[in-house]
This record gives sequence, structure tokens and C-alpha cells, in this order.
Amino acid sequence: MQRPPILRVQHLTKRFGNLTVLKRVSLDIYEGEIFGLVGASGSGKTTLLRTLIGYLAPEEGDVKFRYDYFVKRKQGKNKPLYASVYKQPRLARTLFGFGSQDPSFYKKLTVKENLMYFGSLYDLPRKALESNTDILLTLMDLKKAEDVLAGDLSGGMGRRLDIACALIHDPEILVLDEPTSDLDPLLRAHIWSLVQKINKKGTTIILASHHLSEVEAFCSRIAIIKDGKIIDVATPARLKTKYADSQEIRIQTYPGAYANIANALKQPGSRVFDIKIKGSELIIYSDQPHMVLHKLIHTLETLKEELIDIRVSRPGLDELFLRITR
Ligand SMILES: Nc1ncnc2c1ncn2[C@@H]1O[C@H](COP(=O)(O)OP(=O)(O)O)[C@@H](O)[C@H]1O
Ligand SMILES: [Mg+2]
Repeated sequence: MQRPPILRVQHLTKRFGNLTVLKRVSLDIYEGEIFGLVGASGSGKTTLLRTLIGYLAPEEGDVKFRYDYFVKRKQGKNKPLYASVYKQPRLARTLFGFGSQDPSFYKKLTVKENLMYFGSLYDLPRKALESNTDILLTLMDLKKAEDVLAGDLSGGMGRRLDIACALIHDPEILVLDEPTSDLDPLLRAHIWSLVQKINKKGTTIILASHHLSEVEAFCSRIAIIKDGKIIDVATPARLKTKYADSQEIRIQTYPGAYANIANALKQPGSRVFDIKIKGSELIIYSDQPHMVLHKLIHTLETLKEELIDIRVSRPGLDELFLRITR
């Protein structure tokens, strides 16, 4: 994969008034990736996507794209050329397709009319526009609905139309902001299979989501964003091993003075990362559960707590994610 990146995000800082929403964000995106941007609501995902496509201007930093994809190369030059999306807005517009979080199609136009309209914004020749429309109607399973008013589409179909509109000019990079939010699991799965199909046809994809467990199966790499800062970038497998070495011990005791148990376990050097009381359970997080169990049994004896239930498990990815980003 170590070809030069197709996109280089360099130290982006974005403010809205006094609020700094992106804090020196840097990322390299490689051709052919499905790159996931994962963060809690309000962490800056939408702002980052809008800034990296050139729609919002940053206060600091730059986003550079492979300029040589658009210009005729002189012979003998193999070095990649980069240009700023802010200095080449017209090329940036052809480079990216953007599917926003909220529908951007026109409800009073039919599915096909929407595609033709969005295509006309890119000065595509009539023939190319018609053939792209046809290819996308088929690819996105919208052929049967081509004459349906967009306002009458179901949620899943609307989402597919939005993605199709973002693809009408055949961009190198498709940027999708929470493409599966508010969809039921079956429709989500359908969107994911389409995203993979689009990717297999050669389009690089950058997408935002707030479910780590949902994107990890599909992304080549994932960046975790928290309060406008990228706190980690790794393959899903690496993220898992990095954060999933911690396990959770859930106990129930009687009479259940959990605060006292927690205090006794939270001693320095105890290998306890975190302790939570959830309903009738006390949950202890540790990377060394056997050490904690030893201490726990001793503590319960001392505090005269009777052990009613105990379970040790690896937390799911979403639980881990919440812990990383909390
Ligand atoms: N146009 C704007 N003006 C002022 N604040 C904004 C604007 N857009 C986003 N924000 C703020 O920036 C922060 C990040 O928002 P956003 O990028 O939408 O996060 P996410 O997509 O991860 O939920 C939030 O605190 C939000 O209120
Ligand atoms: Mg958002």
C-alpha cells in the first residue's frame, strides 16, 4: 500500500468563532482505501469531511491531492505532484463526491431527474451524463424507481439516491457522512455492500460513522477523532488488539457496598483501569484480570461481602470505543 497518498491532510485547524472544532488534524489517505472516521457525536467528523473536500476553509493547515491525476505528465517524471484543494477548487470538485448526513436530492424531481440535475452541475457532456446515470441506477438498485419522485422514496432508497448523486461525475474519492445512520440493520447491510461494490470499481472512500463496531468490518484503516483531535489511526485489527487487551470483570455481591469495594480495588499498581457501577453490577476493567481477581476475593472477605455472581469477558468494540473517546 505504500504508494504516495492520494490525499494529504496537513495540520488542519478549523474554528467557528471562539470554538476550535478541528485541532491540527493530519491524515494520509491512500488510493483504493475505505477509510473510516469514527468519533462520538460532536467530535468534529462532519466539519473535518467538509473541510477536507474544500467546502469549508480552515484557519490553518492544508489539504493536498494528487494533482498529476488531472494534468498531462511530461515524460520521465514519476514523482507525484500535489496541489491544495483550496487553491484548485474546480479540480477539487471533480476529485470528490460528497454524500452529506442529510438528504441533498430534490424531492420534487424523480430519481433519474435528480441524477441528471446533479450531473449537469459538473458540465458533463450529455452522452457521459446519460451513461453515468444509467450505470448508477443499476449499480445502486434504483433502476425500477427511476421515475419515482425522490420525495416518495423509502429511507434506504433515499440514501442510495444520495450516494448515486455524489457519484454522478465519477469522482476519484467518495466522501460519505454517516451513510447508514437511521437505517435498520438490513438496509445498513445493503448500503455497506454497495459501498464495497463502489470501492471495488476503483473509488477511494472516506466515511464517517459513530459506530466503531459497524465500520470495522469494512474499513482498511480507521481514524478515531475526539474533540477535534485524531487520537489514533490504525487498521481495525490493530485497534482491536491495542485496546481490547483489557477485560471486564462483572460482579454482584451482597449486601453490595460497591463504593467500598471500588475504593479497595483502586489502589496504585492494582492494574484496574476503571470501575463502574451499572445497575446491580460492579464492573471492573483491567488488563490483568487474574491479579484483580486475587485481590477482589480478598477484599470481599475483608468487607464481608458475599459473592453472588461473577463474569469475566472481553468488552465489545463499541464499549472499547466509548472508553477510548470518553
Ligand atoms: N457552522 C457551525 N457553526 C458553529 N459551530 C459549528 C458549526 N458546525 C459545527 N459546529 C460545532 O462543531 C462541533 C463539531 O460538529 P460536527 O463536525 O458536526 O461533529 P460530528 O459530525 O462529529 O457530530 C460541534 O460542537 C458543533 O456544534
Ligand atoms: Mg456529523
